[in-house]
Amino acid sequence: VEYDLVITNGICVTAADIASYDIAIKDEKIVLLAPSGSLAQAAARKIIDAEGGYVTPGGVDCHVHLEEPPLFGKGYSSDTYETGTRSAIAGGCTTIVGFAPQPKTEPSLLKALKDTHARASGNSFCDYGFHMLVGNPSEQALEELSTISGDEGVTSLKIYMTYTALQIRDDQILSVLLKARENRILTMIHCENGDVLNWMTDQLEAKNLFDPKYHSHSRPPILEAEATNRAIALSSLISHTPILIVHVSDPGATLRIRKAQTNGQPIFAETCPQYLFLTRDDLAAPGFEGAKCVCSPPPRDKESQEAIWTGLRNGTFTVLSSDHCPFNYDDAERGKKTCITPEYPVGRFKQIPNGIPGVETRLPLVFSAGRLALTKFVEVMSTNPAKLYGLYPKKGSLIPGVSDADIVIWYPEGKKPNITLTNEMLHHANDYTPFEGRKIGNWPRYTLLRGKVVWDRDNGGVVGEKSYGQFLKRGASTLDRIWETVEEQGPFDVASF
Ligand code: URP
Ligand code: ZN
Ligand code: ZN
Ligand code: ZN
Repeated sequence: VEYDLVITNGICVTAADIASYDIAIKDEKIVLLAPSGSLAQAAARKIIDAEGGYVTPGGVDCHVHLEEPPLFGKGYSSDTYETGTRSAIAGGCTTIVGFAPQPKTEPSLLKALKDTHARASGNSFCDYGFHMLVGNPSEQALEELSTISGDEGVTSLKIYMTYTALQIRDDQILSVLLKARENRILTMIHCENGDVLNWMTDQLEAKNLFDPKYHSHSRPPILEAEATNRAIALSSLISHTPILIVHVSDPGATLRIRKAQTNGQPIFAETCPQYLFLTRDDLAAPGFEGAKCVCSPPPRDKESQEAIWTGLRNGTFTVLSSDHCPFNYDDAERGKKTCITPEYPVGRFKQIPNGIPGVETRLPLVFSAGRLALTKFVEVMSTNPAKLYGLYPKKGSLIPGVSDADIVIWYPEGKKPNITLTNEMLHHANDYTPFEGRKIGNWPRYTLLRGKVVWDRDNGGVVGEKSYGQFLKRGASTLDRIWETVEEQGPFDVASF
């Protein structure tokens, strides 16, 4: 037998091209792209006929929260590594990058990283890496960053301008950026002004405005745009250290990012399906239902959605991640409902844990929306995330001899499923999806991870195993030569101002 697996009659889509090829796989890698149909009789252990369906690289979702302690309020993540990654492969996602959370009370990053490995190891259906979530940029933590980015293969970190448990000051951000620069670590920043939104929240509560919809009132767009602008300024102060602005929702923030990019600054941005498919009206659903769409930043309005689609098309956004951060709606002991008490019969928006599930619906929702060119779809869903986070070209493409055989095969014309999304269809442990009832016109028919079918929608569903996913040690980002550009800038010199 020459090959482990052959995929025939597919239309292969990469970030660069769309063309019909057969794909041969051996020892977990793509080894050959050949003219369509030419491998139909090849000596292979297994042949999958794509029947003219699209074939894309597996999804790479680099913003996933699993099994984190309750840092964003009082909620506990409903998904473990096992359930979250099971959900991922069922939605065509073959790689996730989750967070290794360092609480404020923990001075060591390495300790936080070790604890996260213990949770994920042997429990992952897909391949996975970690970002350091820096809650406490202690001297020890900053020193540890060289080991983290080197031996540990964790080449990105996230910091927060909001959330009492995580918010750091501007001077602390500068210290983090400086160390990140020295160690070739990409810094992800959550840009919302925490002091302002706490003040807004107090103002709303003083008027007895507690319903879920006031989550949006507490965080007007300007507070995201301000923090985004500040993050860009802080990056430029540290000799233009690369940053990624995560989960952008606001057109004003988007414009500021666009302008910085036009000026040649290494400012990258991420958006998420919630900012394409939800609006603030969803937070105003009857009763407490709006809690199901509480995330930060909050969903905005229709015009904002359009601006975000435009930002995807014109390249302002490098990546489209899920920000999967699931909390149960009906967890009697500790979930969202806990903020409904006799004293607060409509709940209390400030107590609703921020975050929604979405690792499984990310690819199908955006694919079915049909609003991005397919090459752009692959770019923001697979290729760019892999480049940005040091996983390319092992992940994020279909390059023979180089790329892992991480592949999604979609349904062809004539066999497309007509799906009305329900939570029961999904494979996460969460008790709801904010996208309940959406029409979805296609879904991953097969998901392959390193040459193995791990999701077969028509024959068994999830057929992978939770021990198959491997930890990915990542290298420095290779997107847009960002670290070469830093090299050319020279080291940070405070006397240069
Ligand atoms: O509401 C959100 N986005 N929750 C997840 C945590 C974060 O800030 O990404
Ligand atoms: Zn965030
Ligand atoms: Zn997040
Ligand atoms: Zn199922």
